[in-house]
Amino acid sequence: MEALENIVSRATADFSAAGDPASLENAKARYLGKSGELSGFRATLGSLSPEERRVAGAAFNAAKERIEAALEARRTALAGAKLSARLSEEALDVTLPGRGRGRGGVHPVLRTWQRIEEIWHSLGFEVADGPEIETDWYNFTALNNPENHPARSMQDTFYVDLKDKDGLPLVLRTHTSPMQVRYARMHKPPIKAIAPGRTYRVDSDATHSPMFHQVEGLWIDENISFADLKGVYTDFLRRFFENADLEVRFRPSFFPFTEPSAEIDMKFKHRWLEISGAGQVHPAVVRNFGLDPERHIGFAFGSGLERLTMLRHGIDDLRLFFDGDLRFLEQFA
Ligand code: PHE
Repeated sequence: MEALENIVSRATADFSAAGDPASLENAKARYLGKSGELSGFRATLGSLSPEERRVAGAAFNAAKERIEAALEARRTALAGAKLSARLSEEALDVTLPGRGRGRGGVHPVLRTWQRIEEIWHSLGFEVADGPEIETDWYNFTALNNPENHPARSMQDTFYVDLKDKDGLPLVLRTHTSPMQVRYARMHKPPIKAIAPGRTYRVDSDATHSPMFHQVEGLWIDENISFADLKGVYTDFLRRFFENADLEVRFRPSFFPFTEPSAEIDMKFKHRWLEISGAGQVHPAVVRNFGLDPERHIGFAFGSGLERLTMLRHGIDDLRLFFDGDLRFLEQFA
């Protein structure tokens, strides 16, 4: 009987040690198979007396049942483990956020650009585009900038390591005003055009960025006056800020390429804020347009897109436009 006890306990131990169904079936063969240990024990019964055989037979049956029960229990356990492994492998956490691509949006400055084009277009102005890398002539000379003007210094202007046909270094345009000259030389008056685009200056702080945006405006005809410029620009600002009562004033100023020149201010929270440069195009510049200043009068303005955007949305730091922080940008999407 001790031999039987021994077989049962080894079988039970081997079954629990089997980590997968295949090794469990191998272990089963070792104990319950045709040439397994139980069959070996049974073969010894034949040599016993009938009385002994009855007792030993009952013990044999009891042992066999226990081994079969242990086998079955282990089979169930292994199947359960397999199922829960599969379940956890294929588990879906339905509380996780989706992996959607998110919705893109137009950058606030570009949105201003688009609005400006729409408004000026509705006021009868064409939209023009021109190079960001300019010649010295278009950016400075044609606009009446004297040779010693500070904007021509390396401290204020980015120079490109390339020379134009006059042997002068190319510059990243410091304003959109060269587009006045380019556009006027390619079109016949009357001219009404705006030219929005990127501009560059050696400047960087909370209100200046080395790259920023301007929109240039040019209106040339034979019989227009400052009143026309004032009317149209006021109309633009009132539409842009969606405020029909917006107060606008023109304040005397100086630019080499306009005479007289003005600074355009708008009333914002009870204060006058500068929003644009403007003026009547200087006669020398009108001549550089290829036109006769005795006959054609030009008016021009140049406004900063970042500044317009900041005022419209109450943004106080220009650098937010260039940080690419989605928490800021998403507010405009
Ligand atoms: N180009 C000037 C600037 O960048 C603005 C301006 C444009 C002034 C047109 C007058 C006329 O400051």
